[in-house]
Amino acid sequence: MQVLKNISLKTLNTFGVEASADYFVDIESEQDLQELFIDENLKNMPRLVLGGGSNMLFTKNFEGLVVHLKIQGLSAEIEGDNVFLRAGAGIVWNDLVNYCVENDYAGMENLSLIPGSVGASPVQNIGAYGVELQDIFHSCRAFEISTGKIRVFTKEDCAFSYRDSVFKSSLKGLYIITEVTFKLSKIFKPNVSYGAITEELGKRGINVPNIKQLSQVISHIRVTKLPDPTTIGNAGSFFKNPIIAESTFNKLKSQFADIVHFPAGEGYVKVSAGWLIEQCDWKGKVVGNTGTWKNQALVLVNHGHATGDEIFQFSSSIIDSVNSKFGILLEREVNII
Ligand code: EPU
Repeated sequence: MQVLKNISLKTLNTFGVEASADYFVDIESEQDLQELFIDENLKNMPRLVLGGGSNMLFTKNFEGLVVHLKIQGLSAEIEGDNVFLRAGAGIVWNDLVNYCVENDYAGMENLSLIPGSVGASPVQNIGAYGVELQDIFHSCRAFEISTGKIRVFTKEDCAFSYRDSVFKSSLKGLYIITEVTFKLSKIFKPNVSYGAITEELGKRGINVPNIKQLSQVISHIRVTKLPDPTTIGNAGSFFKNPIIAESTFNKLKSQFADIVHFPAGEGYVKVSAGWLIEQCDWKGKVVGNTGTWKNQALVLVNHGHATGDEIFQFSSSIIDSVNSKFGILLEREVNII
């Protein structure tokens, strides 16, 4: 393990914006973390844990230590119909999904092709096409920076909610996730609740998909809707879908009858941020080096040479428009550094 100085992060964030880290280290094991934080100077420095860099926007250089998690390791334990799969934090998320699909370990196929790493997946409780990480999460191991000890977090400890967990709120910055255990199943029950899935299965003449077919359909939907970060810099959905009180929603609905929305628990409604942004005429707009994606207004893109600050300013313009038209304050899903 070697601590490097002045390292460019351009290839380590999916927006592809230029930024540098004063100090940078690759971590391959829990032991590496224990050794790293013996150094009081490094321990007290501003710190950023980086996985796949798919959910962050660098608006400036990082004046501190970037801890790049590369911990590997994969093992499955089968108990009856349950599969307990332990995966190192540095594994690429979609590699894990493919491994599960190949081995008929069911549960994460709807999360196919999400960019990012295993270690980051619980932090924001990643979700897509009717499945959230919390549905397949069993537990995780995390390194406590202040004590150097490993703590095991159960699902309850993580306090998951929509794109949120304890690692983003009360315990933010205190722990580094090193390994996640997933609870999967040998019995495949396709979750095709999402309209676009049934539509695509219909086009392919598939009635009841097998796990591979479902994963392929999900990947196809993502590819047609979302820009590929290896060619057009982006971080997926830039904002969260806002959850508002039902009473507020009803007032909006009387004014905007076709407002796209989803149930969000008793007394609340989740509104499509993509729809709100599109109604403000931002869909597919190019402004300087940035803009929104032509097929999905919720995704902000780097058209080539955008700086992080330019993308950030652009996102502020969107927030202002949506707020003045609908009285809804969009919250960024992407971490701003
Ligand atoms: N819509 C529009 N205009 C747009 C985009 C969406 O009108 O430009 C409306 C359409 O009616 C569409 C509906 O919103 O049918 C839902 O759109 P979509 O299926 O693309 O889902 P989303 O709510 O915009 C969320 C997640 C995505 C996830 C998809 C599919 C959030 C913030 N985003 O997007 O996650 O892939 O559902 O489940 O919850 C991510 O987090 O990075 C991400 C891509």
